[in-house]
Amino acid sequence: MNSESRENGYIVLQGLTKHFGLVVAVDRVDLNIAQGEFFALLGPSGCGKTTTLRLIAGLERPTAGRIFIGGRDVTDLVPRERDVAMVFQDYALYPHMTLLENIGYPLKVRGVPRKKLVARVREVAEHLKIADLLDRRPSQVSGGQQQRAAVARALVHEPKVFLFDEPLSNLDAKLRLEARAFLKHLQREVGVTTVYVTHDQAEAMAMADRIAVMFAGRIAQVGSPLDVYREPMTVEVAAFLGNPPMNLIPGRLEGGEFVGPGFRIPLSSTSPSGEAFLGIRPEHLRLAERGETGAIPGRLYAVQPLGPEVLVTAQVGEVTVSVRLFTEELPHLGDEVWLLVDPSRVHLFDSGGKRIR
Ligand SMILES: Nc1ncnc2c1ncn2[C@@H]1O[C@H](COP(=O)(O)OP(=O)(O)OP(=O)(O)O)[C@@H](O)[C@H]1O
Ligand SMILES: [Mg+2]
Repeated sequence: MNSESRENGYIVLQGLTKHFGLVVAVDRVDLNIAQGEFFALLGPSGCGKTTTLRLIAGLERPTAGRIFIGGRDVTDLVPRERDVAMVFQDYALYPHMTLLENIGYPLKVRGVPRKKLVARVREVAEHLKIADLLDRRPSQVSGGQQQRAAVARALVHEPKVFLFDEPLSNLDAKLRLEARAFLKHLQREVGVTTVYVTHDQAEAMAMADRIAVMFAGRIAQVGSPLDVYREPMTVEVAAFLGNPPMNLIPGRLEGGEFVGPGFRIPLSSTSPSGEAFLGIRPEHLRLAERGETGAIPGRLYAVQPLGPEVLVTAQVGEVTVSVRLFTEELPHLGDEVWLLVDPSRVHLFDSGGKRIR
């Protein structure tokens, strides 16, 4: 990569690689993260998210590759020289210190005078609505308040980069939704370039300007949440985003049609013949009448009323297929169900899992 393309990114990772013995945790990762961007690194457990974040923070040394922050090559710099702040999954607050001491710690190690330190901690704590808890220890406040204290500690010395490693995973579902909105709002307000690691696709979609989806140490796709959702480039990405994720039905492409178990769907564009996967999001299917042209036959597996929608699961050949019906009524279903798909909404992947169109 030349210096010109480096300037496009505020955080630039170039061929970043980390081996732990025989384990390749991060494998030739290239990324350009813009200044002020909220960037999510999304992927399943063990795919290398935390290692990537620790490499950016300087807590690990790469096996190969370079890291640039703000145009500066920081690969050989120690963490403190990088001007980044990291919020860990377990918050890593010091249990024997009060919240005041915890939040003020980054200022203390930088030699900020006590009076100034206390004033700055108060200011940040007010902002995060934990100012009346500063005399308490972490064990004397709730999980949500500990999480805010950890964020306050990251904010206190005005870093150039925020690194978040699954910061919401210790919160219950309701607090997590609140904390999501709060962090997104805060990041916009302070405008600090943020890399946010999560294995929760909904969290990544909801919070980030752009997402990188990672599998086995490699980046599979980068884009805006909706671009990645609407046009996944591989079956792995397709199956990782969405709740429930995209349905993938194995079959064959033949004479301009997709041939699946008990159905044929004509395709608008011609594709080479061969084994393939038909991908359909659960919200792009609807129930059809028995034997309707192009309908997919299945056996009813489960019906789950979720409130604003009903989730119907059907067995189609060897796979189960999910359908989201946006109705408050429970559908009357027999054993046999027929599913209709809008042909303009289907995704096709070749036998190797790569997107065909
Ligand atoms: N210090 C280490 N020594 C040896 N192997 C490690 C070390 N740290 C991570 N690994 C391995 O590297 C791979 C990536 O780990 P990493 O912690 O980055 O994954 P992750 O995406 O953060 O997963 P999770 O979602 O479970 O936190 C895993 O196979 C892990 O076992
Ligand atoms: Mg991790």
